[in-house]
Amino acid sequence: MLTISDASFGYPPAQDAPAGTPPTVIVQNVNRSVLAGQRIGILGANGQGKSTLVKTVAGALQATSGELITGKGLNIGYFSQQELDVLRPADNPLEHMIRLVRDTPAAVRPSGMDCREQGLRNFLGTFNFSGDMVKQSVGSMSGGEKARLVLCMIVWLRPNLLLLDEPTNHLDLATREALSVALNEFEGSVMLVSHDRALLRSVCDEFWLVSRGGLKDFDGDLDDYQVYLLEEAKRQRDVASSARKAA
Ligand SMILES: Nc1ncnc2c1ncn2[C@@H]1O[C@H](COP(=O)(O)OP(=O)(O)OP(=O)(O)O)[C@@H](O)[C@H]1O
Ligand SMILES: [Mg+2]
Repeated sequence: MLTISDASFGYPPAQDAPAGTPPTVIVQNVNRSVLAGQRIGILGANGQGKSTLVKTVAGALQATSGELITGKGLNIGYFSQQELDVLRPADNPLEHMIRLVRDTPAAVRPSGMDCREQGLRNFLGTFNFSGDMVKQSVGSMSGGEKARLVLCMIVWLRPNLLLLDEPTNHLDLATREALSVALNEFEGSVMLVSHDRALLRSVCDEFWLVSRGGLKDFDGDLDDYQVYLLEEAKRQRDVASSARKAA
């Protein structure tokens, strides 16, 4: 579905930076493939580049070098907390779905979806938006409800590679469980960044670790990962304290 070849991920120089300023590289020398049906958990301590990796795979950010080769028919769905900004506070969930249908060219609309109002209401119902809620303005909804609506919109597009960057941050336990069930039923590939180990455990069957500028397989289970994170936090504290002493 996707081949990442000698790629580095990071950010281009600021627009006002002097000419010749190199990009900020966060993760380098990545060689990986993502196959159909693969369910990958992206692990790593804060700031190591998990979101940067996922953003690049989503196409929201260019690789600073190397290439990402996408297979024919790849259809990516991308969810991050920033995506909540796509919602219009004055509009309700039904209006969001209607706009989504309108903005999706007929050729790429998922086949077999009922795009009429009743069909969209039914689909919203599967994400627990029923009755009056489909007419409630999004601006008056909780963070979890907004996240649920964005996920509903993404899933409606029937991606075959779903990129989820901390999808559960605002979700309550019941909605997390519903997401976990939905992801287990989803047949496409998944790349999931999450600090929720229960979700990682139930959805992912392999783990990649983003750490110290590189990407590798994490061999170990999620209990080992917990230990890894504690050791990594200690290492970072030690580095910071020796830097302070040196100053
Ligand atoms: N627009 C940007 N320009 C330059 N550097 C950035 C930019 N956005 C993020 N970074 C840096 O890239 C590094 C990786 O950030 P990223 O958000 O990918 O980490 P993360 O692993 O997702 O962390 P977290 O667990 O906190 O979400 C950080 O050092 C961050 O400061
Ligand atoms: Mg992140």
